[in-house]
Amino acid sequence: MKIELNENKVFFNNGKSIQEIHPFWLRERVDGEEFLDKGTQQRLFDPSTMDGKIVIKNAQIKNGFLEVNFNDGVNSKIEINKLESEFSNKDDISKSIKKIKWDSTLKNVKNFSFKDGFFETKEMYELLVSFYEYGFVIIKNVPTENDFIVKFANSIGSVRRTNFGEHFNVRSKLNPNDLAYTTLHLSPHTDNPYRNPVPCIQLLHCIKNEVKGGLSTIVDGYTVTENLKKKNPEYYKILSEVKVRFKFIDKNVVLEDWSELIHLDENKKFKQVRFSPRLDYVPMLEKNKLDLYYEARKKLSDLYNSKKNRVEFKLSPKDLIMMDNYRILHGRTKFDPSEGKRFLQGCYIDFDSTEGKLRHLKRKFKI
Ligand SMILES: [Fe+2]
Repeated sequence: MKIELNENKVFFNNGKSIQEIHPFWLRERVDGEEFLDKGTQQRLFDPSTMDGKIVIKNAQIKNGFLEVNFNDGVNSKIEINKLESEFSNKDDISKSIKKIKWDSTLKNVKNFSFKDGFFETKEMYELLVSFYEYGFVIIKNVPTENDFIVKFANSIGSVRRTNFGEHFNVRSKLNPNDLAYTTLHLSPHTDNPYRNPVPCIQLLHCIKNEVKGGLSTIVDGYTVTENLKKKNPEYYKILSEVKVRFKFIDKNVVLEDWSELIHLDENKKFKQVRFSPRLDYVPMLEKNKLDLYYEARKKLSDLYNSKKNRVEFKLSPKDLIMMDNYRILHGRTKFDPSEGKRFLQGCYIDFDSTEGKLRHLKRKFKI
C-alpha cells in the first residue's frame, strides 16, 4: 500500500489498483494545532459547513509526511502511516482478529489469572484477543467480595444494566421470573434475545459451587452455523431469512424483538445467533415454508444440543467466564440443591467496552 503523487493529485495504490484520493477527504484530515485538538484528536473546525470545492495547489511527500497546500490557504502535513491505516481496515479491531472454530475437541485454550493492575497489562490485551478468537475466555482467581464482578466489568468498559439489575445473582429461588433461577437443566441458549439491542457480552462469576451437577456448558454458534451452511444450505438459508419474535414478560415490562435465528451482516457473513426456544415465535407463513422452517430449526437445535459441539466444565469459586452472547450459547446441567450451594453472579457489557479497551491497550503497548 502506497500514497503516490501525480500533478498535484494524491493517489492510493494498494498493489492492485490506483485510486485518486478526493482533495476534500484530505482537507478534512489536516493536522496541526489550529485544526486538531492535541489531547482529544477532535477537529477544531467543522468540515460539514465548508465549501466542498477544495483543490490541491501543491503536494509533496517528505520524511513520512504528505505536505499539502490547499486553495483555501490551508497548508498541512499529514502523517502517511495514519492515512494508510485508514485504507487497510486495521482499525476494525473485531474483524482483524480471526475467529477460531471449535467443538467438543477444543483443547489448550489459555486461561488467565487475575492480579492487581490486571486491566492495564499486556496480558489483558492477550485476554481480549483470545476472547475474540474463541468467543469466550476464563479468568481465574477473580475476587468474589462485594459484587466484584461489577468492578471487573467496569474496568473493561461499562456495565450494561438491564431490568434484572446492574448485575444478577444466579441461584435457585422461589417464584423465579426466569428458569436461570431454578435448579433445572438449561439447554444451550443465548441471553435476552428479546432486547433491542441484545446485550453483547455476558460475564458469569462463580462465587460458590458445592454441588456435583450444575456443570457449565458452552457451544460455538459460529462453528455450528458455518457447518450447517455447508451441509444443509437450505436450512441455513431459511434460518437466516425468517425473522421470529422473541418475547419476555414480567410484572413491570414487556420486552419484544424480531430477528432471524442466524443473523447475517451486509456481506451475508455471520453476525449473530439468537437461540432461546422457550421464547421464540415464528410468524404465520405458507405451510410449505413453515414445514422447512420447523425442520431447519429442529436440525439447528439438535446441533446446538449435540455432545459433539458442546464443551462442559465445572466453574470453581473465583472463576469468571466472559462470553460473546452474539456467538456463544451457554447452559448448565441440573443440580441438587441439597448437596450444597451454587451461586453465580452475572452482568453484561457491550462490544464497545472490549473493543475500546483493546484499542487502548494496542496503543499503549504499540502493538
Ligand atoms: Fe443464560
